[in-house]
Amino acid sequence: MELLDGKLVSAKIKEDIKQEAAAFMASTGRKPHLVAILVGHDGASETYVASKMRNCELVGFESTNIHYEADVTEAELIAKIESLNADDRVDGLIVQLPLPAHINPERITEAIDYRKDVDGFHPVNLGRMQRNLPCFIPATPYGVMLMLDHYRIDTAGLHAVVVGRSNIVGSPMSILLARNSVPGNCTVTLTHSRTKNITEEVRRADIVVAAIGKKHFITPDMVKPGAIVIDVGINRETSTQTKSGYKLYGDVDFDGVAPKASWITPVPGGVGLMTIIGLLKNTLEAAKGTIYPR
Ligand code: GUN
Repeated sequence: MELLDGKLVSAKIKEDIKQEAAAFMASTGRKPHLVAILVGHDGASETYVASKMRNCELVGFESTNIHYEADVTEAELIAKIESLNADDRVDGLIVQLPLPAHINPERITEAIDYRKDVDGFHPVNLGRMQRNLPCFIPATPYGVMLMLDHYRIDTAGLHAVVVGRSNIVGSPMSILLARNSVPGNCTVTLTHSRTKNITEEVRRADIVVAAIGKKHFITPDMVKPGAIVIDVGINRETSTQTKSGYKLYGDVDFDGVAPKASWITPVPGGVGLMTIIGLLKNTLEAAKGTIYPR
């Protein structure tokens, strides 16, 4: 078993991004700028946004966090998005999900100018991704692809089984793995809560991507010997043993599954760190105008 080490890979790519940000600053006199809108006080969301902002600063980007209380109206939020769309000083714009129930996430996603949609959630970016055209790719699946690429894992012809069909991870992951690209060229099965006999499906996988949000859902009996195992789960439980007061668990029973896997990502220290890389790379591309000319 070999580890797909998110700490190592993210640190290396972050160095590259830092140098590119410095070059961008030298030629334009400004920094790439990411704006993140956060609504309410979901603990995990607050942690993620703080980490995004901190990592922007680390690589020499400008970052702005706009925080609304949970009772903000959809109209207020859309008005803010429209003013940021029109602001030349803003390169990337994200709205952290999930949103409170009274706000329609589809309307918010479509309100963001697709040329600033560094989350890659807008239907224009989703459609372009499916067609293998230049676009912003959602940060987490993008991070997974960068990880596979870093370790030069040859995925062509492999059977990938994605567990979970979310807009943020499972669905775009299935598209990326199936595309005619490197990495990619997999035969993909997308499984979800209504899949009959999910264990049988996962057992056929050469690559398992677990993105279902259930602690240790993937057990050793579900994994074919030699499989590549990608764990996207970040399940938080309160703990008295850690400084932060909580402990993270993946969707994969790492200790049980690792001896059977050829490659595996740990949690923490795996895909989570790569998500930030995906977002930073998209923000840099947005500033440079390489995907959509400014
Ligand atoms: N919630 C969980 N993951 C993400 C993400 O990548 N972007 C946004 N905006 N919200 C999220």
